[in-house]
Amino acid sequence: MSAQFPIARPRRLRSSPAMRRMVSGTRLHPADLILPLFAKEGITEPQPVASMPGVYQHTRDSLRKAAHEAAEAGVGGVILFGVPAVKDARGSAADDPDGVLQVALRDVVSEVGDALVVMADTCLDEFTDHGHCGILTPSGDVDNDATLERYASIAVAQAEAGSQMVAPSGMMDGQVGAIRAALDKAGHTNVPILAYSVKYASAFYGPFRDAAECAPQFGDRSTHQQDPAGPLEEALREVRLDLAEGADAVMVKPAMPYLDVITRVRDEVDVPVAAYQVSGEYAMIEAAAANGWIDRERTINESLVAIKRAGADLILTYWATEVARTL
Ligand code: PBG
Repeated sequence: MSAQFPIARPRRLRSSPAMRRMVSGTRLHPADLILPLFAKEGITEPQPVASMPGVYQHTRDSLRKAAHEAAEAGVGGVILFGVPAVKDARGSAADDPDGVLQVALRDVVSEVGDALVVMADTCLDEFTDHGHCGILTPSGDVDNDATLERYASIAVAQAEAGSQMVAPSGMMDGQVGAIRAALDKAGHTNVPILAYSVKYASAFYGPFRDAAECAPQFGDRSTHQQDPAGPLEEALREVRLDLAEGADAVMVKPAMPYLDVITRVRDEVDVPVAAYQVSGEYAMIEAAAANGWIDRERTINESLVAIKRAGADLILTYWATEVARTL
């Protein structure tokens, strides 16, 4: 028994819902949440993603509807991913003004562009036939500098289509600087960059690769994404480099397995910190809940509170609309 007992009784501040609500240090707000959405070319019905119950590859119509619902719930932003009908080695559809992602951006901006922030994931893996995030060398490595030229062109195409923020996720060295320079040269000085600065080579992306149809046809992403066992300083270095290159906000991904990293990054920087609660985090909770093993709503809420408490200002989550409605 502590020497302070019975004077000190922490239970006093937990005694009622009103008391707990008043003293709670972590509050989720709908505007903190960002909803990832998948636009698929050439489909007439939304396609459910088998490994992510409740998540769809959208048609043009269902995408507008999902964005509208997010806006109505007060969600802060949506981030769009495109799944093209035709893929090739250089991901030509990614910067085609009529490519699936550019069409989706125009549709969503015209639907909700004032009510929330419409952003695009800036990468190549959804668009290349080999499923890698860049241009390959003859030996099958991702060619960093050749890929930068592609990212620059993609970001400009996304901005021209109305994207209000771009989010480079490919973990190429120098990607933020290359994109900033290209956006500025094209007159898009006011389009901010949300950098996926700290992105681990994570098994938790598994279900996303169904949703975005972007599983690498050979090899993996461990020559560019970070080693989960890598030192924390490596994450901080990535963040510092991205800020020096002009990142306006930085991201840590995945979220729940890397709460310590979120906290360290939050302490380090003076820009907004986002965390991506990725597909595998979503799938685990949905699967356990579907089996009756956990309470779905409470677990979702607790997961988001934990990410926020760790230091994330923004959370990308597939539950954004659903959770925003409850807040
Ligand atoms: C790359 C990208 C990925 C995710 C977001 N952007 C996949 C990857 O890096 O392999 C994963 C998101 C998730 O798992 O929910 N364009």
